[in-house]
Amino acid sequence: MNRKLFTVGPVNVEEEVIRSMIRPMITHRSKEYKALHRAIIEKTKKALNTDQDIFLVSGSASVLLEGMIRNGVSSKTLGLTNGSFGDRSIEIAELNGKTVDKVKVEWGKAIRPEHIRERVRHDTEAVHWVSNESSTGVFSNSDEIADEVRSQNPDSLIFVDAVTSAFAMDLNLRKLDADAVVFGTQKALALPPGLAMMAVSERLLKKAESVPNRGFYTDLLKIKKQSDESYALTTPPVSLMYALDFQLDRILSEGMAARYRRHSEMADIVENWAGSRLNGTFPEKGFRSNTISVLNRGSLDFGEFHSSLKSKGYEISNGYGDVKDRTFRIGHMGDTTPAGVKELLSAMDEILEEKA
Ligand SMILES: Cc1ncc(COP(=O)(O)O)c(C=O)c1O
Repeated sequence: MNRKLFTVGPVNVEEEVIRSMIRPMITHRSKEYKALHRAIIEKTKKALNTDQDIFLVSGSASVLLEGMIRNGVSSKTLGLTNGSFGDRSIEIAELNGKTVDKVKVEWGKAIRPEHIRERVRHDTEAVHWVSNESSTGVFSNSDEIADEVRSQNPDSLIFVDAVTSAFAMDLNLRKLDADAVVFGTQKALALPPGLAMMAVSERLLKKAESVPNRGFYTDLLKIKKQSDESYALTTPPVSLMYALDFQLDRILSEGMAARYRRHSEMADIVENWAGSRLNGTFPEKGFRSNTISVLNRGSLDFGEFHSSLKSKGYEISNGYGDVKDRTFRIGHMGDTTPAGVKELLSAMDEILEEKA
């Protein structure tokens, strides 16, 4: 059955976007490919309001989460975590042989500058965290954290996992001035999965020159050399890139301010609904994600509830990680609209009434 996805990614992809992929294949060393690659980079820079390099790598976002560590860190990082994906980044760094100092913040709470006071040392090569923690629905203020990092060690690189915030919440990249901001196509870009993307600083590229074992696939210097020619390092997912180019036009015509407002409106609608119909939302007040609402289950039998919802043609997401059994998640990002969210919530109301 064809279900409408209100999931946390992959998310719903509009039909016209899927259709935009149906074009003849081109080779990735052709001038047509160069034009496509260049157009995507220019439009992405415009949408995210940045002059930094934008890299595209075939794979899911994790390949560049791994890449930022492999290029920017010879031995030591500081990993900040307030949920499963923060933990994941720490795991990635450790599995790549780096030593990770850790700051663990209670799940449901945002990472704040005070959590890292006196934790960024002279030998901390990079500090990494998740902008929008998808397991808890918490959005941390990356600007403030980055300022605190720089105040303690201006040479520490700043790495932000923006997988579920880029293109939906304003990360203010110029002010943030991070060294790596990583995301993928299957979240707020509302495309099929398959492409990892990254805004990268000159500082990180300079640092990479002295870091050994950057690998081949994740070597940002090799990627940069090709990217400067509007090429990918390895075979890119050309069909997906047709859709990305098409989707970026749609995004720019909506306008980023309107897009950010729409996401905030959807989060308001779900938060109000959760407060009146169930047991409220999980994140602490003031740090709510606008792309993923994490709702407290209370006594709701989520498995049964979700089966009924699926039979009405909608899919949402289970809880994740340590709060898997206490919460469930509604994704509202990409092309999802406030009207669509209201339609989902009416279907959820019907089920709650049937069960009452
Ligand atoms: C915050 C966050 N970081 C990283 C990832 C991993 O992304 P991917 O599966 O595209 O590698 C996810 C996936 O849900 C995520 O939500």
